[in-house]
Amino acid sequence: MQSLIILSLLLTVCSSTHLPSTFQKCDRHKGDFNQCLPKAVENAISQLNHSIPSVGLINFEPLKIPFLSVAPGGGPAQFYQNYTNLRLSGVTKIQFWRFDVDFDKKVIAFDFTNPELVLNFTYDVGGHILAFPLTGHGPGLIILSNLLSNYSCHFEEYEKNGEKHYRVTRSDLLMQPSLIHYKLDNLFNGDERLVK
Ligand SMILES: *[C@@H]1O[C@H](CO)[C@@H](O)[C@H](O)[C@H]1NC(C)=O
Ligand SMILES: *[C@@H]1O[C@H](CO)[C@@H](O)[C@H](O)[C@H]1NC(C)=O
Ligand SMILES: *[C@@H]1O[C@H](CO)[C@@H](O)[C@H](O)[C@H]1NC(C)=O
Ligand SMILES: *[C@@H]1O[C@H](CO)[C@@H](O)[C@H](O)[C@H]1NC(C)=O
Repeated sequence: MQSLIILSLLLTVCSSTHLPSTFQKCDRHKGDFNQCLPKAVENAISQLNHSIPSVGLINFEPLKIPFLSVAPGGGPAQFYQNYTNLRLSGVTKIQFWRFDVDFDKKVIAFDFTNPELVLNFTYDVGGHILAFPLTGHGPGLIILSNLLSNYSCHFEEYEKNGEKHYRVTRSDLLMQPSLIHYKLDNLFNGDERLVK
């Protein structure tokens, strides 16, 4: 999710239209483009701790997501996860270590760290892990400390109404927090025998 935000910001930083005057710009045709990008994107994200209505940018601190549903995947863990009133804090405190855009190979790769990401939500889970039932509903909190993320994606160019557009065809995200702290109230619907 955070990578999607960064990607759309990257497109904003690269196109000269609708850009807040306080955002630093990078010229794709200049040799220092990949050195310019990490600082420019980092600086742009750090400014999102307030809304910028003139260009339609909302406040990202916290980032509010009304509803998020994660369908059961394959494998032994078969449960759905529904999150409501999700609030993600710490997004704008970000540092980029690498930001490479290769227009020939059509690959974007960046590494970034967040000192702390806090997720606050109401959750609803139901299903089973192997034969073990899992259900629960309640408030939840997840804190990721010293998060290092590596993101890469492949993109392709296409034309629409005579204009050049880009579309992500494949993306990979690796997130490595040094510590995960979580609190899910009422997991197993308060059955203490299962929580212990
Ligand atoms: C946003 O972040 C900047 C830089 O860290 C800080 O100076 C400013 O006070 C913050 N604004 C708000 C509304 O928190
Ligand atoms: C979770 O969300 C899915 C998709 O919107 C919905 O079908 C399902 O009923 C929801 N489950 C609960 C318990 O809210
Ligand atoms: C992730 O990013 C860090 C910091 O730039 C880097 O040292 C590390 O090699 C990267 N890991 C992967 C798997 O790309
Ligand atoms: C989570 O958000 C709710 C609603 O804003 C707030 O009342 C609660 O204190 C928050 N919890 C934590 C642990 O920050």
